[in-house]
Amino acid sequence: MKLAVVGGGSTYTPELVDGFARLREHLPLTELVLVDPAAERLGPVAGMARRMLRAAGHPATVTATGDLREGVAGAAVVLLQLRVGGQAAREVDETLPLRCGCVGQETTGAGGLAKALRTVPVVLDIAEVIAGHAPDAWIVDFTNPVGIVTRALLDAGHRAIGLCNVAIGFQRRFAAMLGVEPSRVSLGHVGLNHLTWVRSVHLDGVDVLPGLIGRHAQEIADEVRLPVELITRLGAVPSYYLRYFYAHDLVVAEQRTEPSRAAQVADLEKRLLDLYADPGVTVKPALLEQRGGAFYSEAAVALIASLLGDRGDTQVVNVRNDGVLPFLPDEAVVEVPARITASGAAPLPVAPVEPLYAGLVAHVSAYETLAVEAALRGGRERVADALLAHPLIGQEHLADELTALLVEANRAHLPWT
Ligand code: G6P
Ligand code: MN
Repeated sequence: MKLAVVGGGSTYTPELVDGFARLREHLPLTELVLVDPAAERLGPVAGMARRMLRAAGHPATVTATGDLREGVAGAAVVLLQLRVGGQAAREVDETLPLRCGCVGQETTGAGGLAKALRTVPVVLDIAEVIAGHAPDAWIVDFTNPVGIVTRALLDAGHRAIGLCNVAIGFQRRFAAMLGVEPSRVSLGHVGLNHLTWVRSVHLDGVDVLPGLIGRHAQEIADEVRLPVELITRLGAVPSYYLRYFYAHDLVVAEQRTEPSRAAQVADLEKRLLDLYADPGVTVKPALLEQRGGAFYSEAAVALIASLLGDRGDTQVVNVRNDGVLPFLPDEAVVEVPARITASGAAPLPVAPVEPLYAGLVAHVSAYETLAVEAALRGGRERVADALLAHPLIGQEHLADELTALLVEANRAHLPWT
């Protein structure tokens, strides 16, 4: 089985390769192709991937290429994990909104919109090449903002599923708290990518979330960086991305005094690339754990194994709503448990969503629709409309100011400017 990773020069790639090596009985991988235009990263990352597979006795070959066509040709699966504009563009996403008193985050709020505007056209071009050279391939999208990118891919008719590590991270964390194998734990996870709540945790079919919150409320609160009283009162676990909503002003105050995550990641990436270039390093460096991608390889392996192996198990993915959340349009993309077979991901029914969550989900989902429109068709008015519709922006003077700022800062990456 040939698997291509677009954005394969990412410093995250060894995380993925570590998963392929550890979970090899689930995935008959014979050919791993890392596709990336950045040769200076691709070289060391591909070298590291080769050494890791060899050290693990994994037979797959690793090829590195800057040629997308050649890279994806005949692949069974293409994983997208690219970042248009790199950490420099991310730095802008994280700092520019602060000027207007809005949260600076790469997937949430104005920063997330800027990232969507840069990314959607590039991903759609890549998907066209995949459709032409690997027409049967599944596209697994890790590229953020995952909800918006997945929506654009599906609207354009591609065989795509969006994936994020937040759900698997919670599953692993709750399994550890319960002292059981993660496979016995399934989450009642609902919402949109980076806007989710875990409303139940089933262990062998029984909901154990009330007990988990009862015993581990403080630990859970620390993990998602929200007040313990909130977790106890909700009786549900918001993902840490909800902090940008529930504690928006506090986060803005913090962000004004702290170095950006982009700056931290840029520094980490330099150190990681030095390690990857060292022929003596043959296993995933511990330093990689300082990035936010914990368990992303396991999520990828599980999804690919079920798509190719028609396993029919349940995994949390980004899929078309298709009526699962009746207050959203069918075409919206939601992040919910789905049954994964060779025909794709079919979302499972979800218990009615409380107004406390449904309002925000509907609001952000509408923003996502406008964000896709703005990314596809361009134009300052469309950008401003998306910002006006975003619950963290909403005011017309902020939408206008942020539109001017983010269009100017991203000019090089916006095809319509
Ligand atoms: C989590 C999110 C990803 C995001 C990452 C950022 O894994 O689910 O969508 O890309 O964090 O991690 P980083 O190390 O780049 O800050
Ligand atoms: Mn994510």
